[in-house]
Amino acid sequence: MTRVTITVNGRERSAEVEGRTLLVELLREGLGLTGTHVGCDTSQCGACDVHVDGLLVKSCAMFAVECDGAEVTTIEGMANADGTLGRVQQAFQNHHGLQCGFCTPGMVMAAAALLKDNPQPSEAEVRYYLDGNICRCTGYHNIVKAVMAASGQDVPACAAG
Ligand code: FES
Ligand code: FES
Repeated sequence: MTRVTITVNGRERSAEVEGRTLLVELLREGLGLTGTHVGCDTSQCGACDVHVDGLLVKSCAMFAVECDGAEVTTIEGMANADGTLGRVQQAFQNHHGLQCGFCTPGMVMAAAALLKDNPQPSEAEVRYYLDGNICRCTGYHNIVKAVMAASGQDVPACAAG
């Protein structure tokens, strides 16, 4: 076992992990941060997306020991300080960018990473960036609409609804 210390959502956390423990397992089972979901076992769905040192990462594809000393942000860290929904979360709610919500934490984390690097993406750029995130419910249109709205742009006509 190895002791790993990470700063999650601004708070230092520490846990004993095995070498094979995945970051998503540490977050969900070790630290109780169950907002990060597991939707596949092939690193394809993006439900487990988090930010590690500011970069978008599939937490099922990274070992916990690799994150020792890192700054990690999960969906629980995306709310405003007063507990209200953050900008991207609010846009998903306003524009019905979810149905069952299973993919939503990963979608929000991916969208936030995109908007950090590209504050005003085109619709095509949003769709390209979210290519690593699978949603079984929405058909993606309202997700794209939500991301465009979160960037302060008009929503694309094809995403109207
Ligand atoms: S659970 Fe990580 S990509 Fe699906
Ligand atoms: S809202 Fe159900 S999987 Fe995306």
